[in-house]
Amino acid sequence: MPKTILIVDDDPVTRSWLTNYLRQPGYKILTAATGTEALKIAQTQRPALVLLDLALPDMNGLTVCRALRRDPATNNARIVILSARTDVEDVVTSLEAGADDYIAKSPKAVEQLRDKIQYLLRQPVAAEAKPQLGRVISFLAAKGGIGTTSICVNLAHAFGALVGANRLVVVDMVLPLGSVGLSMGIRSGESILPVLAERQTMLNPETVRHYVYKPDRWNLQLLLSPSRLHEAQAVEVTQIVPLFNTLRTMFDYIFVDFGRSLSRISLPILRDSQCIVLILAADRTTIDQTHTYVEYLTSPEVGIPRERFVLVYNRAVGRAGLDLPEIEARLGLPAAASVPYSEDCFTDASNRGRPLAELFPYHVSGLALKELAERLEKQLA
Ligand SMILES: Nc1ncnc2c1ncn2[C@@H]1O[C@H](COP(=O)(O)OP(=O)(O)OP(=O)(O)O)[C@@H](O)[C@H]1O
Ligand SMILES: [Mg+2]
Repeated sequence: MPKTILIVDDDPVTRSWLTNYLRQPGYKILTAATGTEALKIAQTQRPALVLLDLALPDMNGLTVCRALRRDPATNNARIVILSARTDVEDVVTSLEAGADDYIAKSPKAVEQLRDKIQYLLRQPVAAEAKPQLGRVISFLAAKGGIGTTSICVNLAHAFGALVGANRLVVVDMVLPLGSVGLSMGIRSGESILPVLAERQTMLNPETVRHYVYKPDRWNLQLLLSPSRLHEAQAVEVTQIVPLFNTLRTMFDYIFVDFGRSLSRISLPILRDSQCIVLILAADRTTIDQTHTYVEYLTSPEVGIPRERFVLVYNRAVGRAGLDLPEIEARLGLPAAASVPYSEDCFTDASNRGRPLAELFPYHVSGLALKELAERLEKQLA
């Protein structure tokens, strides 16, 4: 039986161009010029895939998307938004509204439409209840060099020991050059990030898996950041959101090292995170800047609930500085864990590419992270 594709666009030229472009044996193409017409056709014809413009004359494309998802007659359809808008907001809200993919109307992207559609139509339709998507745990600091990567990887290792290494991936999103791979002893390896910019169509679990590493001795899997400086320039937020959506179908826990980057790229993922681990240092500048981060992230404009923040006080540079109650009062949030100054232990472990807990099993820092991992696991379960 041919698979029905419904093209929804108010522009007759786009409709006829897409109809011709997608016409091939095995597809039946239908078109609609308005949202009302699209919903009516979708009800009766039950398309396998809806290609949806956002700017429709009678209603917003997102309203159509939500209505399709709500209606049991149409909620199994694949929905691809094809829009001239490329704002992060549009991409994020479309995916939140239930779209499977978002394609910006550019010559390069449209060229790949056929492959994308073919891929989406090959995927089995999910059973009524979609499986729970993986949870994102982001790591962020207001300042560089205060141990964000050290805490992220060692907490992930402790967490992986509880839930199983195959359920957890660490993603290095420190751009242009992250250090997660090096701190786990991986000296060479390819990042998926620059590849995505080149070939958008390859974004599916099978191909993502090709870039997932399993470092020896670590209870986790890993996606590397680019290893060549120029590669990071190609990374776009329009590729990052779909990448994380794919990862959330592959892993139960996605730990992301964002370093100190609060940017167009990190923001949509931070908003989608079940938990944001903020690394704190003992100096006033870092705490004041962290305060600015928290105020911004919890503002109505961004809207992240305060309960999602998990504060980790890490004394990476020495014993001097503000004490914890003073920091908690300034930030208006309690700290979830406190990691003491550990002299050479973290650096030694990182230089050898090994988990802290393996080299120093009874060190108080490793034990603090193990305890935090246990609490987080319960909280996220
Ligand atoms: N609690 C600690 N005690 C002692 N040294 C620490 C501690 N935490 C981290 N370090 C050391 O501090 C240095 C910086 O750590 P790390 O690379 O994890 O920081 P970062 O914030 O991720 O840095 P960057 O901004 O470069 O990404 C490393 O040498 C690490 O071994
Ligand atoms: Mg780092």
